[in-house]
Amino acid sequence: MRADRRRGYGLDPARERAGGPYGEDADLVETSVRAMLANQQPSGAFIASPDFPQYHYCWLRDASFVAHALDRIGELGASARYHDWVVTALEGIAPAMEAAMREHRAGRELEPAEMPPARFSLAGLAVADNWPNFQMDGYGIWLWSLQQHLHASGTEHVAERALPSVERTARYLATFALSPCFDVWEEDGQSVHTSTLACAYGGLMAAASLLDRADMADRAEEVQAVVLERGRRAGRFEKSSANREVDASSIWLSVPFALVDAFHPALVETAAEIAGRLEFEGGIRRYPGDTYFGGGAWPLLSASLGWHYASLGDIASARVHHEWIAGHFDVEGRLGEQYGGEHRDPVMYREWVSSWGHPAKELLWSHAMFVILSGALASAAPERSFDRSTDRSTDSGEPNDLQAEPNERSS
Ligand code: BGC
Repeated sequence: MRADRRRGYGLDPARERAGGPYGEDADLVETSVRAMLANQQPSGAFIASPDFPQYHYCWLRDASFVAHALDRIGELGASARYHDWVVTALEGIAPAMEAAMREHRAGRELEPAEMPPARFSLAGLAVADNWPNFQMDGYGIWLWSLQQHLHASGTEHVAERALPSVERTARYLATFALSPCFDVWEEDGQSVHTSTLACAYGGLMAAASLLDRADMADRAEEVQAVVLERGRRAGRFEKSSANREVDASSIWLSVPFALVDAFHPALVETAAEIAGRLEFEGGIRRYPGDTYFGGGAWPLLSASLGWHYASLGDIASARVHHEWIAGHFDVEGRLGEQYGGEHRDPVMYREWVSSWGHPAKELLWSHAMFVILSGALASAAPERSFDRSTDRSTDSGEPNDLQAEPNERSS
């Protein structure tokens, strides 16, 4: 047992991973934890995928979820090293962040390519290439993940060294939270994306508490108001300001970022649409028109939807997604980015394979979300009956997931 394990959200790693609450899942959870730890770099960065050369970088988005999964399992030392690495990486782009904010105050905007990056080299350096830079979600996810990490470590206190990066990132997030930028799938740089707003909200609320800054909570509420107004008009949460389709990442509005309650009618509608329209061979796809590697089903999105179900007490549905993911570990214990694209859209699948090779067979973010879902199930109360007509549990229990504490103040 490593000395750095303290409290992983009340889930005792020794107990869980030796077949305690994780029960039959213990081996797979251990496999996922090993994959994440083994792929942490000496720098502290988490490589997105070791077998897919295009992903030999560290994304704030993927890696901040990885750090959170490790916190939940009690591997606090590994996630502390990651957060330390982020602080250094963010120090390196401080001039770019300040320049972007200065230009914005002056009524000008930098070109998207000049904006601070969403991904770094494993050494923590910004990379000069044509990959889209301007993606706000990762900054929000990092602040949220850092707050969760500190909480799991038994403190709310940001270390002196990290403070300038946390403060600058919070200002940067507050400045650009509502600006059009690239989405979490790095495809559309012209729109305001729902899941990006969810991440921004989570990050701003985390910053408000870490820095004791009411202005950050006010900004978070502005973000929330925009999302709720859109949800009210459409009756569901759409992919972006420009796209009325559904996107599976919108489920993060409830868990983990708590912009809306899991029972909010527009969220319930969105979850039903994700389950109904994005299911493929048992897993969950990104969005209807996705053709990346044929647009297969992604474990991390199946886990996200499962986490949402677990948070509202629909354990049976959460388990369905959990089992689908569990069935996709290969014999070497690897869990990939997506499955089934070669059947869904063979032409696009082949096109991507001919330019980039086969899709990632080992994706750390997939492992992270599997561990998180396993933890949510392990901490869930025994099976409760669930009435799908109202999406309410028929007993009086509270939502199960330890992370699901909606912050919504009005709806
Ligand atoms: C996904 C991103 C992800 C990256 C690395 C891309 O294909 O769209 O969300 O951060 O891969 O995993």
